[in-house]
Amino acid sequence: MSPSDWKLTAEQRSLLIKSAFEAKEGSYSPYSKFPVGAALLAPDGKIVKGANIENASYGGTICAERTAVVKAASEGIRSFIGVSVVTDLTTPASPCGICRQVLREFCALETPVLLVPSDYPQKEQKKGYGEGGVRETTLGELLPDSFGPEHLGKPSPSA
Ligand code: THU
Repeated sequence: MSPSDWKLTAEQRSLLIKSAFEAKEGSYSPYSKFPVGAALLAPDGKIVKGANIENASYGGTICAERTAVVKAASEGIRSFIGVSVVTDLTTPASPCGICRQVLREFCALETPVLLVPSDYPQKEQKKGYGEGGVRETTLGELLPDSFGPEHLGKPSPSA
């Protein structure tokens, strides 16, 4: 696929953004009080949402992105063409390192990742940010020189 094949349509983009906000509603974050929502778009148009789920034993916490991946993968959805993440911060936050690696299992490096500000759509265009204040990046940009299934002789993740 060429890079332009990975471009999300306006419809896919707004669905991913809306779904990340909906996902954030499901956050269980009484300890950090830092709700996060994530959404994954499958090639057939299905959306899978996830929120961060914390635990009194803090290490048991699972991030929003991984909740979404695990929900999807356990239902047999194992390929994604778009990812979105939203927090309560007006400056979009970026997935943690573990979530980047987990996404890497099921997403091509070209997969667009939309990092959404809490006050989306922002009226003023900030330098370095796209439409509505969304930072649009790719998994490959977030996780350069990464290790993945192909290094163990398994097919590389692609749509
Ligand atoms: N969190 C996520 O859900 N995703 C990330 O990529 C970073 C952090 C959650 C974990 C914890 O519940 C809270 O945010 C504060 O770290």
